[in-house]
Amino acid sequence: MRRAKITIIGAGNVGATCAHWAAAKELGDIVLVDIVEGMPQGKALDLYEASPVEGFDARIIGTNSYEETADSDIVIITSGIARKPGMSRDQLLETNTKIVAEVTAKAVARSPNAVLIVVSNPLDAMVYVASKVSKFPSNRVVGQAGVLDVARYAAFIAAEIGCSVKDVSALLMGGHGDDMVPLPRYTAVAGIPVTQLMSRDRLDAIVQRARTGGAEIVNLLKTGSAYYAPSAATVAMAESIIRDQRRIMACAAYCDREYGVGGYFVGVPCVLGRGGVERVIEVELDAAERDMFNNSVSHVRELVGVAQKFLG
Ligand code: NAI
Ligand code: 2OP
Repeated sequence: MRRAKITIIGAGNVGATCAHWAAAKELGDIVLVDIVEGMPQGKALDLYEASPVEGFDARIIGTNSYEETADSDIVIITSGIARKPGMSRDQLLETNTKIVAEVTAKAVARSPNAVLIVVSNPLDAMVYVASKVSKFPSNRVVGQAGVLDVARYAAFIAAEIGCSVKDVSALLMGGHGDDMVPLPRYTAVAGIPVTQLMSRDRLDAIVQRARTGGAEIVNLLKTGSAYYAPSAATVAMAESIIRDQRRIMACAAYCDREYGVGGYFVGVPCVLGRGGVERVIEVELDAAERDMFNNSVSHVRELVGVAQKFLG
């Protein structure tokens, strides 16, 4: 049977760590692309040399061109600049719009049937850029943000309760990070509503920490942003698609009539399977949740408007 082929564009912190998680899970053969000469080749070779120790089988190559990426099943886009302390994700917009547009065009020319998973920030606008440039059907373009935001939220809940992270099941919606819409009534620990396990104040503090989770890491690292959890989240999405697991994950998916969004990519629960986004799931939102979601969508619209100017 043909092994899946995964192209990862941008071999920096997130891209290289995606390659690491994907190789360890034996998701398929990996092509790591970057503009820096020698760097993707060096990282790919180093990772390949780890395979006998860890016992994973994967062909891993690094390159500065797109020829080797042909016929990829998944293209993960992580190229671009990352935040530094004091910067918001939105300040990356102009530079990353141009980079994401350029790499998308080159990648889809060689892999017309791939599913694109966008990671570059500001995420909700970059997934729109990749969709416009690729002209792919909307189910084959998806952004990673919600899986990371949910992971942060779940990790803080498990630490607060002193239980396994495996027992936390949670959902968040809306834009990435600062814009996310927490849904405590859709959060449970081993089936027990989280609101029965901690005070409202503690839960609010956890929601706020998850919302600003990206900035917390940027302030600690000082030279870049988070990458272990972001890349684990991205590879979990790739795995659900490649293995047709049909997991329900919070992803930036195209919504038109769904939630009344009107044609933008926003964080919503969806089923991820072989076709990419198989289905967007519409959950009930109360008035307060709906207001937060609508505010989040307005911000996405604004960002997309600015990105469109840079796209020309
Ligand atoms: P990084 O700086 O470590 O890596 C970015 C890489 O992109 C660099 O190696 C750079 O040479 C490469 N690159 C730049 N222009 C390119 C081009 N035209 N073609 C190919 N490669 C190119 O940054 P890091 O930490 O890997 O973050 C990457 C992006 O992902 C950033 O925009 C960051 O904000 C975003 N991010 C998004 C997250 C999310 O949840 N959606 C979470 C973490 C990061
Ligand atoms: C994060 O949330 C920077 O978006 C990135 O860590």
